[in-house]
Amino acid sequence: MCGIVGFVGNGPVQKVLVDGLAKLEYRGYDSAGIYIMDTDGQDALFKTEGRIADLDQLVDYDLPAMMGIGHTRWATHGEKATRNAHPHQSASGRFTLVHNGVIENYEALKAEYLQDYPFQSETDTEVLVALVDFLAKEKGLSGEDAFYQMLALVQGSYAIALVDNHTPDRLYGAKHKSPLLLAIGDGFNGLVSDAMAMIAYTDQYVELQDGEVLILEADQVHITTLDKKPIERAPYTAELDAQDLEKGTYPFYMLKEIDEQPAVLRTLINAYIQDGAYHIDADLLQAIQAADHLYIIACGTSYNAGWIGKKLLENWANIPTDVYLASEFAYDMPLLSARPFFIFLSQSGETADSRQALVEVNCMGAPSLTITNVKGSTLSREASYTLLLHAGPEIAVASTKAYTAQISVMALLAAALGNIPIQEIARDLGIVASTMESILAEKSRIQGWADSNLMETRNAFYIGRTSDYYVSMEAALKLKEISYIQTEAFAAGELKHGTIALIEEGTPVLALITDPVTGSHTRGNLEETKARGAQTMVISMEDTARDGDDFVIQSVRSELRPLVSVVVTQLIAYYTALGRGLDVDKPRNLAKSVTVE
Ligand code: F6R
Repeated sequence: MCGIVGFVGNGPVQKVLVDGLAKLEYRGYDSAGIYIMDTDGQDALFKTEGRIADLDQLVDYDLPAMMGIGHTRWATHGEKATRNAHPHQSASGRFTLVHNGVIENYEALKAEYLQDYPFQSETDTEVLVALVDFLAKEKGLSGEDAFYQMLALVQGSYAIALVDNHTPDRLYGAKHKSPLLLAIGDGFNGLVSDAMAMIAYTDQYVELQDGEVLILEADQVHITTLDKKPIERAPYTAELDAQDLEKGTYPFYMLKEIDEQPAVLRTLINAYIQDGAYHIDADLLQAIQAADHLYIIACGTSYNAGWIGKKLLENWANIPTDVYLASEFAYDMPLLSARPFFIFLSQSGETADSRQALVEVNCMGAPSLTITNVKGSTLSREASYTLLLHAGPEIAVASTKAYTAQISVMALLAAALGNIPIQEIARDLGIVASTMESILAEKSRIQGWADSNLMETRNAFYIGRTSDYYVSMEAALKLKEISYIQTEAFAAGELKHGTIALIEEGTPVLALITDPVTGSHTRGNLEETKARGAQTMVISMEDTARDGDDFVIQSVRSELRPLVSVVVTQLIAYYTALGRGLDVDKPRNLAKSVTVE
């Protein structure tokens, strides 16, 4: 949700900023901009509505520069427009700033300090830069003191980078509830929303925590609290391979990430099963065993994975488990059991809704686990325990490999808790990985079906029962978010209680039938839609298949079937968006890593 980057020191400043923003584009792509300055205070501002590729056309790479800041925006306050693009500059031209987050009291600040200020945008961000300018001018403060004072007045979430043209060798940064890392390089220092942005230049980073401020020069950095107390923190080495951030020969990251799923699953088997034993923190297992109820909390695709996790934890670990949307849980908490344990699922580990729920959980003093792809992410730092997804960077906005990795980690966790024999689970997950590969070998068949049935439709339905219903939820989310077809998931038996009214001649209804117990009921429900004109598709398993089914998957262990059936639906979504000529990796209105509530 907006990406920021800042750089001071020796290096190709414009290139570092624009390349960094390209790596952060998954965080938002409504508009983008950079501001650069040379040691003598010569500066230039480039910004535009649109994507980093548009910004790239605009930037003058020949201008001398020793520092700069950049931003890629996901609009919150103010429409997608160049005037709302960051960096924002104060009316005096002295201060320039980029921001990720939401300033909750921006209207109050405007009313109290900035009644006559000539605002150029509708953003909450412009208030920050106007306020620094006001505090410097009206109160005679240095740029540094004005920055600290501004932060003391602001409520909300922010990662900020600020330039004061009176100190052209210096960059200021601050963080509260939005991610920000200090990047330490050879002859330069930087700040970034995500290490991906500068991994080509350095692998040394320091995580900033909420309420911390950064002062950067080319050869020195200071981290302080909001009341200027110095903080010492050692850098860590980011384990990111710059190669993993490239698409290679793939047209889109999403297809690459779908294809990576069998390898990720094998990595997880090796990570969590070692020397013939489950390799999972014994304290974590003990803490879960001591609980009388598990609460899985997540958003979007991670939430959908949570439902499969619930089945696994209930069936194998025998612990009652419920699943909650993080954005609801934080403000409408259910009556909790006596000994709750909370599981947070988050690919990014930065989702603000999930983080808010974790803040509530931590206030209760309850134990928690974050299952995430990002080591050191906020949710990982703030939960009692972490299990990593080991999926490698997921860059396509539509999540695929994180979903199957989350389910796989929960399967391994549930198996460890339930004492499922290790050879059995390792073998069954291995079979899942091979079955995924056989599905991936059938891409052209899936593309053919999507091309024939989903190019023109305005709506579609996925139906299934039990776990097939849970997978339908994810299948529908994937199809709607990248193809813009309004797609809903229904528990198959529920259609006849109202939703069947929406079925018209040609409405696509896709049924997942991998559960032998309920399969024939779902088939009955599918027939009911067919009788009303639906264009149907059946995805089944060898042991649930009937003649004429459109896609039959080789059988895998019953509890693990979601891991394979979902792959077919990911490919349906991918090829539908591709066939419709859409930008598969960057669907409209979305961003990955949603760091605002
Ligand atoms: C959809 C998608 C989102 C995320 C959701 C939570 O394809 O990616 O629905 O799953 O925003 O994100 P994380 O898992 O990072 O907390």
